[in-house]
Amino acid sequence: MAAVGAAVPFFERQPALPAGGRRGAPSRHHRFLRWRRRGRPSDIRAHHRDDRAGADAGTPARSPSPAPASLLDVGGGPGVHARWLTDSGYRVLVVDPVEKHVRQARDHGLAAAVGDARDLDHVDGSFDAVLMLGPLYHLPDGSERARAWREAHRVVKPGGLVAAAALNRYAKLLDLDSPGALDIAATGLRTRRDGPTTYYHDLAGLGAEARQAGLRDLAVYGLHGPAYEALRAEERRTGRKDLGEQALETALAAARFTDGHPDLAVSSLHLLIVARRPHSAV
Ligand SMILES: C[S@@+](CC[C@H](N)C(=O)[O-])C[C@H]1O[C@@H](n2cnc3c(N)ncnc32)[C@H](O)[C@@H]1O
Repeated sequence: MAAVGAAVPFFERQPALPAGGRRGAPSRHHRFLRWRRRGRPSDIRAHHRDDRAGADAGTPARSPSPAPASLLDVGGGPGVHARWLTDSGYRVLVVDPVEKHVRQARDHGLAAAVGDARDLDHVDGSFDAVLMLGPLYHLPDGSERARAWREAHRVVKPGGLVAAAALNRYAKLLDLDSPGALDIAATGLRTRRDGPTTYYHDLAGLGAEARQAGLRDLAVYGLHGPAYEALRAEERRTGRKDLGEQALETALAAARFTDGHPDLAVSSLHLLIVARRPHSAV
């Protein structure tokens, strides 16, 4: 699957949105990912074609399966990613434990079902690729995350890719206005009095979880790059949602630079790990 196989272009294939905070527009995170497509996407894709960056430097490049490959979007929510993937010709099934999200995904014309990353209702090897863009944030217990990883490994075809998003526990240290940053960095947990606990990974732990489930050929990417937190801080300081082209382009250039420099992934709040289920058990 070209989109995931080429890792970051997975996000760069999304339709570009104009800059600016429109009413009803996607979150800053989603807007930023979409904006990444702007600029010179063909150059960016060429840059990634031979990309060996990642947790296992020197591993073979991921060979893509083109649309209409089948994708399971675990924790797909209302289908933010499933929509553009479906529009690109992929056959996508969204699974989410929140019924409201499943209804919203269906309202967008997507195939969607209630389900849990830790216990998927699908037979072994039934999808060309599995996305897990969110569930790991919500599983603070390591054994629960391990179940989610094992399930992703089980339902993807041998040779298929699993792409999972994780929050990076150190990125908040770049934010001058994040009182919980030190606690998150030290514990990997963000606890709220009235809300769920969120889990933040470190790079080594994220790779270890994927390997433990039997996945190989790992590559980890920082999606936001090092300037994203500065962008957010400046938005808060000025009260402006749109800081203009120059600030955005600076942040995007830094994010794209990060793609070829795996050491810099640690500066990104959102991480993407892409890994392959081997053809034979390891
Ligand atoms: C931050 S949202 C991300 C939604 C979407 N994947 C995206 O990238 O925009 C996290 C999603 O994970 C879902 N989730 C939480 N725990 C889960 C679990 N145990 N299994 C599957 N999904 C889960 C939530 O309901 C939510 O829709």
